[in-house]
Amino acid sequence: MSRFWSDVVKGLTPYVPGEQPRLANLVKLNTNENPYGPSPRSLQAIRDATGESLKLYPDPNAEQLKLAIGGYHGIDARNVFVGNGSDEVLAHVFLGLLKHARPILFPDISYSFYPVYCGLYQVAFETIPLTGDFSIRVGDYARPNGGIIFPNPNAPTGCLLPLADIEQLLQSSPDSVVVIDEAYVDFGGETAIPMIARYPNLLVVQTLSKARSLAGLRVGFAAGHVELIEALQRVKNSFNSYPLDRLAIAGAVAAYEDREYFEKTRQAVIASREKLVADLKALGFEVLPSKANFIFVRHPRQDAQELALALRQRGIIVRHFKLARIEQFLRITVGTDAQCATLVTALREILISPRAGG
Ligand SMILES: Cc1ncc(COP(=O)(O)O)c(C=O)c1O
Repeated sequence: MSRFWSDVVKGLTPYVPGEQPRLANLVKLNTNENPYGPSPRSLQAIRDATGESLKLYPDPNAEQLKLAIGGYHGIDARNVFVGNGSDEVLAHVFLGLLKHARPILFPDISYSFYPVYCGLYQVAFETIPLTGDFSIRVGDYARPNGGIIFPNPNAPTGCLLPLADIEQLLQSSPDSVVVIDEAYVDFGGETAIPMIARYPNLLVVQTLSKARSLAGLRVGFAAGHVELIEALQRVKNSFNSYPLDRLAIAGAVAAYEDREYFEKTRQAVIASREKLVADLKALGFEVLPSKANFIFVRHPRQDAQELALALRQRGIIVRHFKLARIEQFLRITVGTDAQCATLVTALREILISPRAGG
């Protein structure tokens, strides 16, 4: 605390990102990155963009990228907004589309950045408890609200809500913006983007950090009705005119062009997830049904925090949240088959060691 801080800063509770350790040789399964790395075409495009042209500002609207995203999803580029990671897109969404008189609604167990944005932008919110099996019951959201937001698949549970339920939600709150955060949708979900043509209150947010393995490039986007996109443009142009640099635009466009690599790597992650789920169930873990590139697990006889610590001592990092209802869970990113095998071996050792089983 400093006397130089504004009252706003004094009142903030910032988001704490998962650790990015400097140690080499760690099995890093804590921040839902993709183990396969970006498309080689993407890397080449970034290298090609590294030159004299960097003296010039990039296209403030990244039109080329909007066209690539629009082309991939079969929508007009005018229905696309791009930003510096989907976190930045989400930030603009909270200020531009979710700040109203009524509180917004999101699940009690959800992306922990949402309440942080609410704090930053003074957006009132109410959390809606997930059901006993950690799923979203859309009927619970059918009440007056200033907007609705949740990830689909949800994070950190990995559970997927069917599109029919999202449609029901859009119909029951026609005067609110419903934001579907599809950071993990490519690992087994179905995108709601085609529904933006029918629902002017639907905004879908996606990222290139997960299935396209470009977390370090920071690119995300929103798809929705032109009026929703215009709101985001207005916020962006009051904040940072050039959120995407030249390298990010080039790398992201190439990532959309390389459909083959995208398909191959996301299928590999899905296959590894299914194997990991089976292996952990065999070790006695309860595993929530995941359609993401991570799984959410708990063991009936092992404290989650102790497990995370024991894994860490073996060079494996996973994510543990000290939050109500989920403090006995671990969120584990799906790595390569080799990383998953290392994890399973370590867990087997920990579970049979004399200290375990208490
Ligand atoms: C649900 C959800 N939404 C959005 C993000 C932000 O992704 P990025 O800012 O890397 O695009 C994350 C990152 O982990 C996430 O889990």
